[in-house]
Amino acid sequence: MPHPIIIDTDPGVDDAQAIAIALLHPEIDLLGLTTTYGNVDVETATHNALLLSELAGKDIPVAQGAAAPLVKARHPAPVHIHGTNGLGDMELPAVKGKAEARSAAQFIVDTVNQRPGEITLVSVGPVGNLAAALQLDPSMVDKVKQVVTMGGSIREGGNVTPVAEANMFNDPHAASRVLTAGWPLTLVGLDVTHRCVLTQAHMDRIEASHGMLGQVLAGSYAFYRDFYREFLGIDGCCPHDSCALAWLLRPELFTTARGHLGVVTSGDAEGQTIFAPEGRGFIEPRWSGTPLVDVCLETDGDAVSQWIADSLA
Ligand code: RIB
Ligand code: CA
Repeated sequence: MPHPIIIDTDPGVDDAQAIAIALLHPEIDLLGLTTTYGNVDVETATHNALLLSELAGKDIPVAQGAAAPLVKARHPAPVHIHGTNGLGDMELPAVKGKAEARSAAQFIVDTVNQRPGEITLVSVGPVGNLAAALQLDPSMVDKVKQVVTMGGSIREGGNVTPVAEANMFNDPHAASRVLTAGWPLTLVGLDVTHRCVLTQAHMDRIEASHGMLGQVLAGSYAFYRDFYREFLGIDGCCPHDSCALAWLLRPELFTTARGHLGVVTSGDAEGQTIFAPEGRGFIEPRWSGTPLVDVCLETDGDAVSQWIADSLA
């Protein structure tokens, strides 16, 4: 049976890769895309979600959500990484479809309530929509099958600050609520996504496989890769968001640990995720008071990158 999932996303070049996997993979039943600001403003995120779905020949509901963080001011979009249009500033075809009248949070609540215990939420952007869904209906905690969140960092350090990963930094207050809500959650963070590199050779296969969708993935990849080459000295790019789907479908490629998570919401460490392993005593109990979750610590990066390329090609 395919996994019924909702992807909460800010597409975004690596989001587009993850969305394409979800649209194409036979083991995934994509029930909807919910959008948030992050890599782009939320209207652009919605446009790109609709576009990717149409390019794959699918009619997937898209519900627009958070335009800004819960508390802090919105940080400018990283146009040097994803381009102004989120897809590497490629010229894009027009979109025919429209977003749902419902908000992203309402879409999540309604869909999960129709199929309690069955649906996995995969978040690959700032998590304001998940926080809003919890506020609308706290019973989500018991009704989702699981939550897989691309975000955070346990031992790896940050990518937008010395200690914070982008999705957590963009809305640390929402992240704090979502990561400590008490639902079954796995964090797929930089500890594993930085081990994976999608290369030009992978992308050549993907581009050759999917017509216009392949061209959009390849063209946006080229822009994203320039950033990785210039700023990180990597020849290729980290497919952060696809790693959340790799964990869902190929968990044997990852090593996880169970424990307690917290998110720093202010000061120089804002957006940092703090992990206290289960059963480990510290000088005070305050780091071990939140519900238990799983975090990814290690992965076979080559195997995950290959899985991503195979899924798209
Ligand atoms: O830190 C990586 C995350 O930030 C990914 O979700 C990427 O799309 C960016 O939003
Ligand atoms: Ca993202």
